[in-house]
Amino acid sequence: MPDTAQKYVAAIDQGTTSSRCMVFDQDGAVVAVDQREHRQIFPKPGWVEHDATEIWSKVQAVVAGALAKAGLRAGQLSALGITNQRETTVLWDRATGKPVHNAIVWQDTRTAALCDELGGTDGQDRFRGRTGLPLASYFSGPKAAWLLDNVPGLRDRAERGEIAFGTIDSWLIWNLTGGTDGGRHVTDVTNAGRTLLMNLESLQWDSSILTAMNVPEAVLPEIRSSAEVYGTAVGPLEGVPIASALGDQHAAVFGQACYDVGAAKNTYGTGSFLLLNTGNRPVPSRNGLLTTMGYQIGDEAPVYCLEGSIAITGALVQWFRDQLGIIRSADEIESLAASVDDNGGAYVVPAFSGLFAPYWRSDARGVVCGLTRYVTKAHLARAVLEATSWQTREVVDAMFRDSGVRLTTLKVDGGMTKNNLLMQHQADVLDVPVIRPKVAETTCLGAAYAAGLATGVWHDLDELRAHWQKDAEWTPSMEPSVRDREYHNWHKAVERSFGWHE
Ligand code: G3P
Repeated sequence: MPDTAQKYVAAIDQGTTSSRCMVFDQDGAVVAVDQREHRQIFPKPGWVEHDATEIWSKVQAVVAGALAKAGLRAGQLSALGITNQRETTVLWDRATGKPVHNAIVWQDTRTAALCDELGGTDGQDRFRGRTGLPLASYFSGPKAAWLLDNVPGLRDRAERGEIAFGTIDSWLIWNLTGGTDGGRHVTDVTNAGRTLLMNLESLQWDSSILTAMNVPEAVLPEIRSSAEVYGTAVGPLEGVPIASALGDQHAAVFGQACYDVGAAKNTYGTGSFLLLNTGNRPVPSRNGLLTTMGYQIGDEAPVYCLEGSIAITGALVQWFRDQLGIIRSADEIESLAASVDDNGGAYVVPAFSGLFAPYWRSDARGVVCGLTRYVTKAHLARAVLEATSWQTREVVDAMFRDSGVRLTTLKVDGGMTKNNLLMQHQADVLDVPVIRPKVAETTCLGAAYAAGLATGVWHDLDELRAHWQKDAEWTPSMEPSVRDREYHNWHKAVERSFGWHE
């Protein structure tokens, strides 16, 4: 039975492969979880799409599922927060509420040529000073421009104000608050900051970039903070305040209590994303990282981060399972990899969407190398897991070069942190302890915290910080000579992934 004196906050985490809803109590403890996967649509090599209508129905189902498991009615929720896969782009018809095309997912590389063209003689860093981002197919603005150019008649409709653009946060908030019947068309600074269209200083759309990218302002949502009441829900959640929105990686920063300058976390999901809190000023990167938002609570000063984005980590394990069929479940990879002592000389570079940080090479494609007849599926399983730790090592090194901050520990979260072999290897290759908190679903937790702050369930960051508790720690034990040799081999493998343009 739910405690009637308790306050409850729910959060929706709309991720790349699944949607989840979690309910938390006032201590930040998990009360209930429900989760459902959605289809991954691969129309051509390098293209990845989602059906935004399917996502909306899965989200409604997991919200109902989590409430039922918690034994709560919607009216008992103090607030609902939203966190989401970032950059994935939806355009929909404001009058019918229907998407005009499948959503283009962040991993999709179809805009690589458009990005090259937009860079012109200035190259990839043309908008970096204003947006913190390189021109890469990862981000939403070029995806929106592609849709406006390729869906017949769409540009005219967009200019007439009939079409709305949104990342998944906007799509969900619009639907939750009424859709065609008065839905709020908003986004938050963390999501807007991943479009290549938002100015990092003013936190507003940059009109000169909109012109350069040919994206009409009429399609864009209003940019708001990450924690405030955007509106109240209609339908089954009638009356519940929708009180936060953060891109999933920013929500994880918040849920991991990385509130101080120098605090960092790495989230292991479809990809992995390491964010370092740099305080109230954006810090430019010279080493292939992104300058991005941390979060903004109501009208308080925004917090910025440096981010090392790795496109494919957990998704490599999925590929190993689904496309190669070597394992039947993702969990099996750990015992298979543990059945051998090392990678047998094999390396896998999962450049399925090009390589993100610190390289930003859209011409990179996946490679498996170092093969001899000695190599078994168990060695490959090890190489698959090691790809995650080496990619993380590369962004940690870039972070040190950019910020001068040397990590003394790494806070980790996300699904892959269940894998002890991987976490041990991560500690070994970074040569720092790796620490996982009790609530490893920090994306949902961060969105719930932000929504609870906006509605008075929690009062300040100190209260949230006090909830953070350690669950597990891995300490480094690798010989330095082994680490150096393996890192050198990893770099040789990365070089072989370059130069495979579509
Ligand atoms: O930028 C993409 C990121 O937000 C996706 O996160 O958890 O699906 O790997 P995830």
